[in-house]
Amino acid sequence: MLAGKRILLIIGGGIAAFKSLDLIRRLRERGASVVPVLTPAAEEFVTPLSASALAAEKVYRTLFDLTDEAEMGHIELSRDADLLVVAPCTADLMAKMAGGHANDLASTVLMATDKRVLIAPAMNVRMWEHPATQRNLATLRGDGVLIAGPNEGDMACGEFGPGRMAEPLEIVAAVEAALMDGPLKGRHVVVTSGPTHEPIDPVRYIANRSSGAQGAAIARALAALGAKVTFVTGPASVPPPDGVAVVKVETARQMLDAATAALPADAAVFAAAVADWRIAEDRPQKIKKDGSGKVPVLEFSENPDILATVARMAEGRPRLVVGFAAETEEVIANATAKRQRKGCDWIVANDVSPSTGIMGGSENAVTLISADGAEEWPRMGKDQVAARLADKIAEALE
Ligand code: C5P
Repeated sequence: MLAGKRILLIIGGGIAAFKSLDLIRRLRERGASVVPVLTPAAEEFVTPLSASALAAEKVYRTLFDLTDEAEMGHIELSRDADLLVVAPCTADLMAKMAGGHANDLASTVLMATDKRVLIAPAMNVRMWEHPATQRNLATLRGDGVLIAGPNEGDMACGEFGPGRMAEPLEIVAAVEAALMDGPLKGRHVVVTSGPTHEPIDPVRYIANRSSGAQGAAIARALAALGAKVTFVTGPASVPPPDGVAVVKVETARQMLDAATAALPADAAVFAAAVADWRIAEDRPQKIKKDGSGKVPVLEFSENPDILATVARMAEGRPRLVVGFAAETEEVIANATAKRQRKGCDWIVANDVSPSTGIMGGSENAVTLISADGAEEWPRMGKDQVAARLADKIAEALE
């Protein structure tokens, strides 16, 4: 999908630089050529030789390398690429970019380019949250710089929070989105994702263990193919992807309203783990212990089925409606029956038995069920499942 595209990859000096080697590989896997530029600090973390070997290209290192200037000057280097990617983009590189400095090869190339720039910031959480960095971020956004990440999580420095560099596949998706002229250009896709929270009273709720990882990956993959995506998400633990319109909801009923309000759409993917039931009684006050030892008995009522509602719309039904089936037994038989019962076109079925580690994990093993039968996909990362599904959706909407 990146065939023939040329990426100038500036690797900054941060511990996340090791992931940039994988990024080179992932970009090249997709057909891009990658020309690495290493800052002096980056060379403390990765060697020019490894970057050069993975890229199968010369690595550029200093501004005053006269051989390079003879071969390709910094101006030409910056113009020759289709996109400039800075990963990891350190706080210092962000500051230089925001301030318009040009005192080394990386910053000079960034100043001289006439192409779009995508940065993947990576730094300690306090450095990320520092007002100076946030100010620089706002400046860079305003300058039209594209931002991938950072993610929240454990950091190499032992702290926790935002500052981890986006994963290579997330950066690849951002590169694809930046260069997109994809097969889903001009298409609108609605994606539901995450769990729903059903209130018991104003302070308590029932929920499920969905992380929203698969739904977010699908939305990202669809956007990378050029689709306009409306991402209707319950309270997920995974953040929504960039470049999609996010509608945050809590309950199943809110999700139904948001999903139908987002129509018309060419396709809809219902990846949310919607609570089947909600608490029947609407309680405006917190349930209190009264000291008698009596426990509350909760009565449930059934939630609307968002997938079935949209799949059975008489008018304005998206051309392609995709549901999910999380099963713990008889996966194919149950999912095949579900496809018919719900009236959707495809069901992405998976086995979520605890032994599979799929629920909340990073991998998925799915079977795609359509009118043509069942197609079993090998176990792969949720991002790869998403990419493959997005490709299939693009094919179906051709
Ligand atoms: O019936 P079950 O919950 O197994 O069906 C799963 C599929 O239906 C998923 O695609 C899910 O997003 C969707 N669903 C829905 N609304 C519900 C329940 C499930 O959209 N109330």
